[in-house]
Amino acid sequence: MSSIDRRSFLVASAGTIASAGAAASVSTVAGMSLASAACAAPTGQREGVSNLQIPSYKPIALDHLKGGLEGISANQLEQHAKLYNGYVARTNALIEKTTRMVAEGKHLNDQKAPVPEYAELKRRMGWEFNGMVLHEYYFQNLKKGSGDIPAGSPLAKVAEREFGSVQNWWGELMATAKMPGVGWVICCQDPNSGRLFNQWVSMHEEGHVGGFRVILALDLWEHAFIGDYQPTERGKYLAAFEKNVDWEAAGKRLL
Ligand SMILES: [Fe+2]
Repeated sequence: MSSIDRRSFLVASAGTIASAGAAASVSTVAGMSLASAACAAPTGQREGVSNLQIPSYKPIALDHLKGGLEGISANQLEQHAKLYNGYVARTNALIEKTTRMVAEGKHLNDQKAPVPEYAELKRRMGWEFNGMVLHEYYFQNLKKGSGDIPAGSPLAKVAEREFGSVQNWWGELMATAKMPGVGWVICCQDPNSGRLFNQWVSMHEEGHVGGFRVILALDLWEHAFIGDYQPTERGKYLAAFEKNVDWEAAGKRLL
């Protein structure tokens, strides 16, 4: 089981989506736990809407990281965890709100077009959902006392194959991470070719390639390091990040 699979579910959905009468189930898609019933298509049945049960995501535990990372303080991690918890809460709220609107038939106007509130909630989903998921990849590819990437490890082998050397791969990732702006650098793997790409993702949701696997996530929002460094000291944060990468966890995400 990959590390991202550890996100636990508060299965408030253990029962059913009452209006549809279908069993709520938890499935695994692309390494993430998803409650398929939460995404069920509207049935047109409005009975039992008051009994609608919608599963929620729970924040992952981060206490094991506090106080032991090199160059990333416990206070910095604590503040980051609070911000991450906000993404989890808002993702759950968005899913619940939009699911209820559909179940109650309030997502469409008289012309069967999406009402503005529903449309804007749907637009917001990519921001909040990616804000939650990317933070989980990031936190789960951190580890106390990790050290250098082990020579011959799965990730080192793929990096050498794709970039000629681990140094080339990491150098390209760091160069991408020094680009102006806020967002993420995500080392991704194309599931079709197995190739690695260091992708720049603006904000949380812009720049992803559909279906690419997240191998290593690097948070480049200033909130990720201003507890320890000045906003102009991203380089110091990047050096600290390198010292705390859980190379084994990242390697396990490879195909
Ligand atoms: Fe962050």
